[in-house]
This record gives sequence, structure tokens and C-alpha cells, in this order.
Amino acid sequence: MTNTIRTQVGILGAGPAGLLLAHLLGKAGIDSVVIDARSREDIEGTVKAGIVESPAAEVLAESGVSDRIYREGMKHDGVEFHFDGQAHRFDFQELVGKSVYLYPQHEVLKDLIAARIRDGVTPLFEHTATSVEDAESDKPRIVGTTAAGEPFEIVADVVVGADGSGSIARIPVVGSQQGGYYREYPFAWYGVLVEAPPSAPELIYSRSDEGFVLISTRDQHIQRMYFQCDPLTDPTTVSDAEIWDKLQAGVEGTTLKQGPIFRKDVLRFRSFVAHELRKGRVFLMGDAAHTVPPTGAKGMNLAFSDVLWLNQALRSFFATGSEELMVAYPENALKRIWKAQHFSYWMTTMLHITPDATDFDKLRGLGELALLTESLHAQRYLAESYTGWDYGVDDWR
Ligand code: PHB
Repeated sequence: MTNTIRTQVGILGAGPAGLLLAHLLGKAGIDSVVIDARSREDIEGTVKAGIVESPAAEVLAESGVSDRIYREGMKHDGVEFHFDGQAHRFDFQELVGKSVYLYPQHEVLKDLIAARIRDGVTPLFEHTATSVEDAESDKPRIVGTTAAGEPFEIVADVVVGADGSGSIARIPVVGSQQGGYYREYPFAWYGVLVEAPPSAPELIYSRSDEGFVLISTRDQHIQRMYFQCDPLTDPTTVSDAEIWDKLQAGVEGTTLKQGPIFRKDVLRFRSFVAHELRKGRVFLMGDAAHTVPPTGAKGMNLAFSDVLWLNQALRSFFATGSEELMVAYPENALKRIWKAQHFSYWMTTMLHITPDATDFDKLRGLGELALLTESLHAQRYLAESYTGWDYGVDDWR
């Protein structure tokens, strides 16, 4: 017997996008069911990146998810770029009066899950969706099975795919799991998690002839560092000594604090935007709708923009029956999506060396960085984009 669950909004994916949407809809009295194939322990225990833009921090705190970000997050007022053997600091507060918060995504997830439980609507973990049906009817359905192998279906007025880059909701919306505009990059990041105190008070983005290096942090005890590598690199084949050499070579003038490396991974780079974000009553948001390369740390911050636009559209639909804002959702969300795509692409190409780079390419790249360090306008562009453009949607409170 299939267990049938009836709700207004069925949400695939208990990631930052799906959970925030459920929270905001709940504040407007709209009920939703969030499902995820993973367990709660898995979701909360996977160490993830975390630069939260000012506007995103504001949404989390002011919508009542949690203000832990302001109490426990590390406020960063700037970043350093290292290139041509020199360090340059960009002061976000001085340039645009904003900051970012270093607050890992798994901590955001803990806050969002706690908020759902506090509100009496625990997400359904270990529920695997296999398909989304009847997208163009007024009763779309999510069909799947529980961890125990029992079939279930969620019958809703609206279904939202917030199920990440392997989204199954893309199938009814764009016709396949891949259908979109995309770009691959001829490099990847070799990432490590290290047990050590922070090496620098702020993030260091570095570009040298060897390529890109990023020195980031998770907290006072765990650091995250990356260097540019070939996308086909097998993470197990690189020794700790080689890793420290590569990282240290990128940040002259800063001595990295070393410690045991307890995770090694290779991150592939991709820029992707789905061809469509809506089909009938089924919507895509977050990584299901788009992927950005990690260089500008835009992933979760961009997902929140989709959430705010969709929240506005669904509130209007359930209050008045008008589909106008639902129809406008793709156009509204795509404006920021393409801006963020551009910013992430720009940061990525400016700071990496492609394997086939000529001397012209390398010298032109240095010209671009020189311009950034000399022009206040260019610095403001960096600071404004990095700390986060205002979302431009206000009715989420
Ligand atoms: C990270 O901490 O993993 C991180 C930080 C900044 C980025 C990308 C990743 O731009």
C-alpha cells in the first residue's frame, strides 16, 4: 500500500534552499513537506563550505531561523589576493560598508532543521524520490520509497525541486537531468581539511604561475585549503608533503600552520543553468536550477535568492489564486543567477591558469589583477559582488 501524504507544497531536498523555503512558507501559514534521501546525521555531519553574504545572514536571522550566525560566525571585513609575489587586501567595509560571515553550510543546515523541528514540521529524512509526476496538472506528485522500501507519494498543489545538481525534478521541467546551459573548466581544486589553527585572519586567494591557491577556514581548529589541479587527479595519489609545498608556494609571506590532513578531495568545476526553471506547477531552485564554480562562494547565497522569489510567488498564489508571480519566477530569479554566474566565472578565470595558457594569457591576467588593485571602481565591484547584492524581494518577513 502506498502511503499518500497531502500538502500544499512538496519540496524535494533538505538542503539550504528547500529548508529555507519551507520555513518562510510556514511563516505565511502555508504547509509543506520536505523530503530528502539522506539521514539527518548525514546532512548535519558533512563538513561544507561557508561564506554567508550579508543579505543572506540577514534573512536567516530576521526570519527567525537563528541568529547563531552573528554570535558564532566569524565576521570577515575583507579578503587578500596574492599575485606577482605580493599581497593586496580589499577592505569590504571601507569599499561598500558590508562584510561576509564565515559560517559553514552544515551549521546553516543545523539551524534550519532545528527551526523546522521547533515549528513541529520535521523533514522526512531517508525518503528517496524516484520521480515527479503530473507536473502540468493542478495536483503534481512526488513518488518514491522510504529507507524501509515502502512506497510513498506526496500529492501537492506545487512541487519544488531543491534536490541539488543531480535533481530528478529537472526531468519534468527541462525534459532531462542535464538540459541546460553549461561550461566546463580545464582545472579543478584539490581540497584538504586540516586540523590546525587558522593561518591568516582572512581568506587568501592566490594566483601564481603554478595556478590558484585558497586558504580558507572552518573554525578555530579546522582549516580548509585548496590548490589548482588537473580534474582527473586521484586525491589519494598526492602526498601530504606535496600538498604543503603546493599550498605554501601560493602564499609567500604567510607561513601556513600545518597539522594532520584528515580529508582530501578533488572538486570539479562547472557552470550550469537549467534551460527552464518551471513547468506548470513544478519549480527548480538552488543547485537543481544552477551550479556555479566555487571560487566566489556564491552557491548557497544564490540559492536563497531563488527561495525569496519563489516564496513571494507561492504566497501570492495561495492567498489570491493568481499564478502571475509563479509565471514570473524564472525571469525574476534568472537576473541574479546570470549575474552570479558572471561573477563566479570572472573570479575563476582571473585567479586560475589554464593548462594551455600562453605567456600572453599569463601577462594579460596580471594586467587584470593590476587593474583591480589600482582602480577603486574595480575594487568596489569586487566588494559589492562578494559581500552580496541586495536580494530585491522584501515580502519574506
Ligand atoms: C571554502 O571555505 O571552502 C571556500 C571559501 C571561499 C571560496 C570557496 C570555498 O571562494
